[in-house]
Amino acid sequence: MMKKTFLLVGLATALSWTACQNQANKTTDTELSDSSFAGSIDGQEMTLFTLKNEKGAKATFTNFGARIVSLWVPDKEGNLTDVVLGFNKAGDYNNPEEPYYGTIVGPFGNRIAKGKFTLDGEEYTLPTNNGGNTLHGGFKGVHFAAWEGKQDGDNKVTFSYTLPDKNEGFPGNISMTVTYKLTDDNALEIDYTATTDKKTVVNLTNHAYFNLNGEGSGTILDHSLQIYGDQYTPVDSTLIPTGELATVKGTPFDFSQAKTIGKDIEQQDEQLRYGGGYDHNFILRGDKVDNLNHAATLIGDKSGIKMDIYTEEPGLQFYSGNFMAEKVTLKNGKKDAFRTGLCLETQHFPDAPNQANFPSTVLEPGQTYTTKSIYKFSL
Ligand code: BGC
Repeated sequence: MMKKTFLLVGLATALSWTACQNQANKTTDTELSDSSFAGSIDGQEMTLFTLKNEKGAKATFTNFGARIVSLWVPDKEGNLTDVVLGFNKAGDYNNPEEPYYGTIVGPFGNRIAKGKFTLDGEEYTLPTNNGGNTLHGGFKGVHFAAWEGKQDGDNKVTFSYTLPDKNEGFPGNISMTVTYKLTDDNALEIDYTATTDKKTVVNLTNHAYFNLNGEGSGTILDHSLQIYGDQYTPVDSTLIPTGELATVKGTPFDFSQAKTIGKDIEQQDEQLRYGGGYDHNFILRGDKVDNLNHAATLIGDKSGIKMDIYTEEPGLQFYSGNFMAEKVTLKNGKKDAFRTGLCLETQHFPDAPNQANFPSTVLEPGQTYTTKSIYKFSL
């Protein structure tokens, strides 16, 4: 399996974190302590935001990375189950070894080859934080940013952040907003916007790790998954797309009919070897539901919880938690054991700035990037 290394360069000085990191953990199965998410980062006050709907579903967020901290939805017995992995103190998210729990990644989600791309003849160089490539916006990206958060009623919260020009190597002051809405039909809707004052590239997504049987309830290998796409983008050994759009037919990547994640994951296959399992972008077929692409259906085998993903994005990164290695302790005291969570990230394709045949991720001054993804829960 490819070894993942995150370097710490610059991070310790980039963040000034004060207060509340060593609060006693008074979290119970259903309660996170507000004070464990308070304090200030880079002068921005931190808060734990809680959304609720009339059916009793509940979601919590921190403005550190505009992250989802927890998401409670009913299982087949009617018990609320926390289906998103995370930590019970904001400070635990400040971990360069495993920085992506629940977070927004950007300004460019997934990889840019060798940290380089060219716009209008000018080459831009980004910090490389992953095997010689740039992953998820680099060392700090927006996941370690202190976003401003504003809650609007019981079911909506908006986070805003401007990434200063060239701060992470990307051109332009890139102003982003992310709005999470918990609807009464148990859907978490995520709306993203971005504007820039210089031509740049943008590809925002959310990096929640899901386990529909509940955080800490074992591996996701018996979850059933269907992805509404017939092609995927194969990668080289550093997980950069080769540029090919390959059919999933006859390969372990065929999720066009529902199957368990574990069914083919151990097959001898070069692509699975490169990813250490699934870590690939699927091209969505464009099956429309209310004008959005139906991206995937995931079902927890024990809980019966079903999650449907709908999106305006053309792609979906399926990452089967291959690098989870019991390095961190989750909210309920369990370790992040191998493949006990998975990510389904709606997105434009990885390395799009360097691949002319992929849908464009260029954002020009005067344009507004908008995109929507919905994670809908039912039984
Ligand atoms: C990437 C993986 C990476 C993971 C980090 C995923 O989006 O595709 O390669 O290891 O994020 O948690």
